[in-house]
Amino acid sequence: MAGKKPSDLRSARWFAPDDLRSFGHRSRMMQLGYGEEDFRDRPVIGILNTWSELNTCHSHFRERAKDVRRGVLQAGGLPVEMPSLSVDESFTKPTSMLYRNMLAMETEEMIRSHPLDGVVLMGGCDKTTPGLVMGAISAGVPMIYLPAGPMLRGNYAGKILGSGSDAWKYWDERRAGNISDDEWLGVQGGIARSAGVCMTMGTASTMTAIADAMGLTLPGASSIPAVDSNHQRMGADCGRRIVEMVWEDLTPDRIVTEAACRNAAVVAMATGCSTNAVVHLIAMARRAGVNLTLDDLDALGRVTPLIANVRPSGKDYLMEDFYYAGGLRALMKQIADRLELSCLTVTGKTMGANLEGAQVWNEDVIRPLSNPVYAEGSLAVLRGNLCPDGAVIKPAACDPKYHVHEGPALVFDSYPEMKKAVEDEDLQVTPDHVLVLRNAGPQGGPGFPEWGMLPIPRALIRQGHRDMLRISDARMSGTSYGACVLHVAPEAHVGGPLALLRTGDIVRLDLPARRLDMLVPDEELAARRAAWQPPRPHYERGYGYMFQRHVTQADQGCDFDFLQSDFGRAAGEPDI
Ligand code: FES
Ligand code: MG
Repeated sequence: MAGKKPSDLRSARWFAPDDLRSFGHRSRMMQLGYGEEDFRDRPVIGILNTWSELNTCHSHFRERAKDVRRGVLQAGGLPVEMPSLSVDESFTKPTSMLYRNMLAMETEEMIRSHPLDGVVLMGGCDKTTPGLVMGAISAGVPMIYLPAGPMLRGNYAGKILGSGSDAWKYWDERRAGNISDDEWLGVQGGIARSAGVCMTMGTASTMTAIADAMGLTLPGASSIPAVDSNHQRMGADCGRRIVEMVWEDLTPDRIVTEAACRNAAVVAMATGCSTNAVVHLIAMARRAGVNLTLDDLDALGRVTPLIANVRPSGKDYLMEDFYYAGGLRALMKQIADRLELSCLTVTGKTMGANLEGAQVWNEDVIRPLSNPVYAEGSLAVLRGNLCPDGAVIKPAACDPKYHVHEGPALVFDSYPEMKKAVEDEDLQVTPDHVLVLRNAGPQGGPGFPEWGMLPIPRALIRQGHRDMLRISDARMSGTSYGACVLHVAPEAHVGGPLALLRTGDIVRLDLPARRLDMLVPDEELAARRAAWQPPRPHYERGYGYMFQRHVTQADQGCDFDFLQSDFGRAAGEPDI
C-alpha cells in the first residue's frame, strides 16, 4: 500500500471506530494528557528502548530517546517510549544469550498488541540487535534500527585499551605475575570510559554493522560513537524518517531480502566479524524467510577479504578510528562490487544510492582491497566427525601455526572443572595439547555461554605460551582471539559426537580443508555412543524450561523452533 491514508493507519483500528472499545482507547490517551489532535490520524511511533541502569552500553538511551521523540513530533507522528527487556552483556548470568529470544518475543508481541504504526528500535549491546530485529521482522510494521554506537577508545598510562581484547591480554600478564595491583586497577578504570558498546569489532559492533548493511539503520549510523553529537542528530533523523516510512508503508519484508542478508554477511566478513554474528545472522535471516546457511557463510568468507583494521582481528585500531576513517559506508564503498546495490533500505533509497559520496579517509584503518588485513575471510566453517553439523573458527585471530594441527585432547565436562585445572601449576599439558570444553552449548551451558576462549593453562603461560588449539560447543566473546574452534554442533549435551571424545584421543584440525576430526575408530565411537547417558536437564520450570525444549542448535541460529517463519500459521493482527 504505497502512500497510506490516515484511515489506513494501523493505530486507526484502536482510535477511529465509534464503538465502546475505541472510546476506551481514546479516553485513556486523554488520561495521558493527549488531545484528539495528538493521536488521531497521526502515525504512532513506538520507541522500543532497551535502557536500564545495569546496561552500561545503553546509559545514554534515556537522553537519546528524547532526540528520537523530537524527530517524530517534527514529522507529525506521536512518539510513545516503551521500555524493553534490556539484555546486557556486562552482568547477565549465566549468559545474555539465554535471553536474546526472550527480547525477540517481547518485541514481536509488544508491537503486535499495541496501536503502533512504526517502531524505532534502540539497541546495541550484543544480543539486543538480533533480539530486537528478529522480533520486529516477525511483527512486520515499519521499523528503523537505532544503534547505540561504540564507546570511546580505552586509555590507561599512555596506552590505548580495547574492550574485551585487552582485558584478556592483561589478565594473562597478571596471571604470569607481570602486573601490579595498581596497574590492574588502572586498566579496570580505563578500559570502559563512556556510554556506548564495546569499541573493538566485537559482537556489538559487528551486529550493528550487520543491521546497517541490511539496510535497517540510517546509512553509516552503526559507526557513530555513542557520545558524539552526530549520534544525537542521527537519533532525531530516525524519528523523522520512521514517520515517513509509515506513510510509505515501507515494511521490513521489503528490506530484509535474501540479497540484503548476503550483503550483511559480506560486510560482516570484511569487518573481521565476531563469531557470534554467524548465529545471529542466521536467526535474523530465517525470521525473514531467508534460509542462510553455515555453508553460505563459509563460501562468502573464502572470497571476502578482511579490510577493517580494527581489533581483535585487525591489529591496530578501534571503532572510534573506524568512524573517523569514514565508517561503515566507506568500508561498503570499498567492496561495492561484491554487494547487491539495488537493495531497498530504510531511507527508501537503494543501498547504492546510500553509499554515494562515501570515502575512506585513512587507508590504514579501512584498507584498500589491494592491501587487506587478511586476504580471505575472517570466518571459516569446519565439519568432520567431531562436528557433523558444523563448527566455526576465526582464522584471522589465531596463530597460523594452528591452522593445521594434531594433538591429544584434554577434555573438561564443565566450566568449573576446566577453570580449576587451568590454574593448576602441575597440570600435565603441552603446547600441542587440544583443550576441550563441552556441555557449554545452547542447551548444555545452559544458554550457549561465551566460554569458548578457554584460558591457557597457567603452566604454559609461565613458559611464555599465549595461544593453543581449543575446542568447545560454547560461543566466545566477539572481542576474543586465539585458535578457538566454537559452536560445535550438535552440542555434547544433546549427544553430539563431542560427547564421545576422551582425554588422550588425537584431534586433528585441517583449516584449509575445513575439517575437524577425532582420530578414533568408528567401532570404538559406536561403543562409546551405546554407553552414553543424556545429562539431566537444567530446568524443570520457568523460561529456562521453555528454552531448553525449543532452542535450535548453533547451525540453525538458536531461535526457538516455534518462532521461525516457517512454523505454523502466521499470528496476524489481533482480531478484536
Ligand atoms: Fe555491551 Fe560489550 S558489554 S557491547
Ligand atoms: Mg560481547
